[in-house]
Amino acid sequence: MKRTIISDILKEHDPKKLEGEKVLIKGWVRAFRSNRFIQINDGSCLATIQAVIEYEKFDEEVLKNITTGSAVSIEGEIVASIGSKQSIEIQTSNIKVIGTANPEDVQKTILQPKKHSLELLREQAHLRFRTNLFGAVFRIRHSISYAIHKYFNDHGFYYINTPIITGSDAEGAGEIFRVSTLDPINPKLNDDGDVDYNEDFFGKNVNLTVSGQLEAELAALGLGKVYTFGPTFRAENSNTSRHLAEFWMIEPEIAFADIHDNMDLTESCLKFICKYILENCFEDVQFLNDREIQEEKQKPQNQRNEMSLIDRLKFVTENPFKRITYTEAIQILLNSKPHKKKKFKFPVEWGIDLQSEHERYLVEKEFKSPVILIDYPSEIKAFYMRQNDDNKTVAAMDVLFPGIGEIVGGSQREERLDILKQKCAEFNIPEEELWWYLDTRKFGSVPHAGFGLGLERLVMFITGMTNIRDVIPFPRTPKNAEF
Ligand code: 4AD
Repeated sequence: MKRTIISDILKEHDPKKLEGEKVLIKGWVRAFRSNRFIQINDGSCLATIQAVIEYEKFDEEVLKNITTGSAVSIEGEIVASIGSKQSIEIQTSNIKVIGTANPEDVQKTILQPKKHSLELLREQAHLRFRTNLFGAVFRIRHSISYAIHKYFNDHGFYYINTPIITGSDAEGAGEIFRVSTLDPINPKLNDDGDVDYNEDFFGKNVNLTVSGQLEAELAALGLGKVYTFGPTFRAENSNTSRHLAEFWMIEPEIAFADIHDNMDLTESCLKFICKYILENCFEDVQFLNDREIQEEKQKPQNQRNEMSLIDRLKFVTENPFKRITYTEAIQILLNSKPHKKKKFKFPVEWGIDLQSEHERYLVEKEFKSPVILIDYPSEIKAFYMRQNDDNKTVAAMDVLFPGIGEIVGGSQREERLDILKQKCAEFNIPEEELWWYLDTRKFGSVPHAGFGLGLERLVMFITGMTNIRDVIPFPRTPKNAEF
């Protein structure tokens, strides 16, 4: 008999239609109650299906192995359930234990059915896929990735794979992981006494990519509209709930486009994804929404979210993002109560890199909506951003989300060769390292723009999870690369 996936059974809106059908299901036992009711989950959806057994009819040797955490295969007939929690259940005719789970060992793990802290769940990240919470988060993460590919495909973008090993540091922050096969203890040195990277695998100093943008630009300047979707690596030593050393970034790049086209694209893309998840993952979103409401009850009133998770998602899909310049933002912050009452930890003045407290004020207090900030001072942004006519600012763009802060960073790119060369000099980037990038500005250079969307920050927003380590299966953070 062919196996049926549990979600295929439970998605039927009219369970009456299924009654009498014979099915074979396979999954993990969540609970076995009263020697009669087995709750089984196979990961395909949040809900479990109940299989009912008549204890006397089955071999005791088999039954004693049906314990929480074990894997079973069950054949039976779908019948109407008299229980109040489900409309149908399976009347079991045959049951096999595929994999046992010793109850004593299960006791020591998060498989034990009770509430566990997120920290403990993280320590047992290899098992947390079996919990309702992480089942929901990772099904939604999958659907977000799918929605992203769908959005760009439907809008005429080509998916480009940019290199993971690269010689460039696109963001120029120097937070790179070096890739080398040289002997770490005794590397060959050159005449100056430095490590001789000519001897290394690639014959040069290379690192894991911090962004696929520079290569995506090359592709956009031929294919028109492209996007990357890949892992990025940053050796920034920030142990926060919003930073990972390995995260996934989506980077669209469009030719013949300016910063305004870029803002329109970001807003339309983010709205589409939130709407897609509301429409296609509602059971999981509802579960996370209700979980958050329960969690919030433990918090003082003034620290609770003003809107529920579902309302926050709807708010993003239904309202325009607020668009302002950096200069306007600074003015708002200077006039703000926390600034006047010296409540901000960091100073506010034109030229500063906005701190998380400033971004949160703008999004959560001033506008109470997603905000797109543009035209930042050139000194605090990367070399590739297009110089504005005021010669002080660049056509940069950050999108700030409630509870998350920066979710997107992007810009219109400098397409004028002379200015770009000048920027390379100012940022101490040797032109010979980026000859290929500069070359595109010599042959039919056009205005173009793009952005980087951090997948994990978006998954945080959509699931309401507050620690980035809980939205990626195996987080990589300073001093942590388990699994
Ligand atoms: O603002 P960032 O650094 O922009 C770039 O890398 C550009 N090259 C993008 C482009 O224009 N194509 O990063 C973009 C986004 C951030 O807004 C954030 O969502 C995410 O990437 N991000 C991180 N996510 C998790 N952990 C980190 N350490 C992150 N650093 C950036």
